[in-house]
Amino acid sequence: MTKYGEILISTEEIKKRVKELGAQISKDYVGKDLFIIGVLKGCIFFLTDLAMEITVPLEMDFMAVSSYGSSTRTSGVVRILKDLKHDIKGKDVLIIEDIIDSGLTLHYLSENLKLRGPNSLRIATCLDKPERREVDVNVDYVGFEIPDKFVIGYGLDYDEKYRNLSYICTINPDLVND
Ligand code: IMP
Ligand code: MG
Repeated sequence: MTKYGEILISTEEIKKRVKELGAQISKDYVGKDLFIIGVLKGCIFFLTDLAMEITVPLEMDFMAVSSYGSSTRTSGVVRILKDLKHDIKGKDVLIIEDIIDSGLTLHYLSENLKLRGPNSLRIATCLDKPERREVDVNVDYVGFEIPDKFVIGYGLDYDEKYRNLSYICTINPDLVND
């Protein structure tokens, strides 16, 4: 337990899994034109740690979308707040997400990015909550599957706070007021 909630994934477990994913991605993208797209802001720590474990050359860019307000429930509305600076035509795109919950964000994003003509499009997510899925999304790389609990840390926020924890934990329900 922390003062926030129960630790689900420790700092050490994250490091070990990110190394494994980096090795896998490095193998899969030999000879390809890897272009990673981070979905801000939740992706930041996962993306930087993972990118440093990838041994093939890559480009990176970022998008910001909104799917949540300041509560723990999805609004179901996805809006692009910040788009890519670079063209992804012909590139081997890998979207990097913090967590897949309902799947609405990634479903929308992948459909949007497919229209821009990448050579391939895959998804890597640090966390997956399969029980919560509302739309089908093909996820290629998953760090950890977690139960249907609201979590914070390693990039994930509650009301924009707690992103900087080096581990992933549940949030104490006493702090959640909706
Ligand atoms: P989806 O569109 O429902 O898949 O939601 C994806 C986004 O919701 C993620 O990128 C997160 O920003 C946010 N989210 C979903 N579950 C959690 C959670 O447990 N903690 C923090 N953010 C979450
Ligand atoms: Mg996010």
